Amino acid sequence: MSDRIDSAAGSRFVVTSNHGFSAYAQDELRALLPGTKFDELVPAEVYVMRSPQSRNGTIRAVAAKEPIFVRHLHPVDADVPTSGTAEDMARLAAAVEAAYREVAVVPAHGAETETASASTVAVQIRKAESFDGDYTPAELRDAVASSLRETFGVETVVKDSDWIVSVFLAAETAYIGVSTAADNLSDWAGGAIRFRKEEGQVSRAKFKLLEAEYAFGLDLSAFARSLDIGAAPGGWTSLLLERGSEVTAVDPADLHPDLLGHPNLTYLKRNAGDVAFKPDSYDLLVCDMSWSPRQMVKLIVPLLAALRPGGTAIVTLKLMHGKPFQTVKDSVRAMQPAMELRKAKQLFHNRDELTVYLQKKFENAETL
Ligand SMILES: C[S@@+](CC[C@H](N)C(=O)[O-])C[C@H]1O[C@@H](n2cnc3c(N)ncnc32)[C@H](O)[C@@H]1O
Repeated sequence: MSDRIDSAAGSRFVVTSNHGFSAYAQDELRALLPGTKFDELVPAEVYVMRSPQSRNGTIRAVAAKEPIFVRHLHPVDADVPTSGTAEDMARLAAAVEAAYREVAVVPAHGAETETASASTVAVQIRKAESFDGDYTPAELRDAVASSLRETFGVETVVKDSDWIVSVFLAAETAYIGVSTAADNLSDWAGGAIRFRKEEGQVSRAKFKLLEAEYAFGLDLSAFARSLDIGAAPGGWTSLLLERGSEVTAVDPADLHPDLLGHPNLTYLKRNAGDVAFKPDSYDLLVCDMSWSPRQMVKLIVPLLAALRPGGTAIVTLKLMHGKPFQTVKDSVRAMQPAMELRKAKQLFHNRDELTVYLQKKFENAETL
């Protein structure tokens, strides 16, 4: 990568948060990178971050302490004025080629020609509502992808690529970046992770647990015994059953009839405050109660004894009073000393809530 791209003079990124949560993300980014400034591209959602640190320094700082409310970011390696006419496409494709050459292509040692340092590229195009163009993002994606294939001989793919080329089309400017999925915090354009809705799916809430599995790098099939608190109608329970777990589902409300009778399901139609389990009897505890975090945590704390040391908890925290950082702090503190916070993240499928991933400490196991 050339010095021009990784300039010590500072760097810019296009950053995305869930709609309405950008102010929290910006607080987190300012704390990580003092002196950072923001210019809005999509109200309360997408913005340009002007970091005083270099491109790589900024990527490292964000990766080291991933902000809860940053869903996705990509560097701005070039910005190009747009007119909205079809002529943009050739200019943008050329600008992408130049950025790709600087970031991803290294001159072969001792050779005249250059070689791509990796062979697969995903092209992700997004646009602001305010962008009014004669071409669609899909048309631009095809033009950019074919120019990258022709010029660099790369293979263009949708997922799991070595490089991601991002183009964000704002009102009069296109912001272009070349980076990796890890740099961007997500493999998905704008961090908008999409799952296919299945026939007979019990609830959309299932997407939240699927996304948590991806975002926290978990493999749900590794949990042989799971406890689902606030389980109805049963989206999370159905996913855990699909993954082969033996599930105890607790909820005074009805589970979806399709789940009843599953050989690996125990359904306790009870309030979480009225149940108790043997110590160390579960590998995973999940809780997606849409309730005040303070009340929810009060119910959960006594149940944590049922989780084995090293066991995992995935808990949705509803953001009731607009003080998310305090909510996370208070809720996690209430679950200590048994639990350690691994990660807190507002997922794409979260609404006015965020998801925390905790692990039960080993050293406190006997004291519970
Ligand atoms: C958002 S829904 C859960 C959705 C579920 N994760 C799914 O995938 O279908 C919240 C559930 O928490 C349950 N709940 C609320 N308070 C509860 C309590 N004290 N004990 C057990 N369940 C409770 C509600 O009855 C409701 O079914």
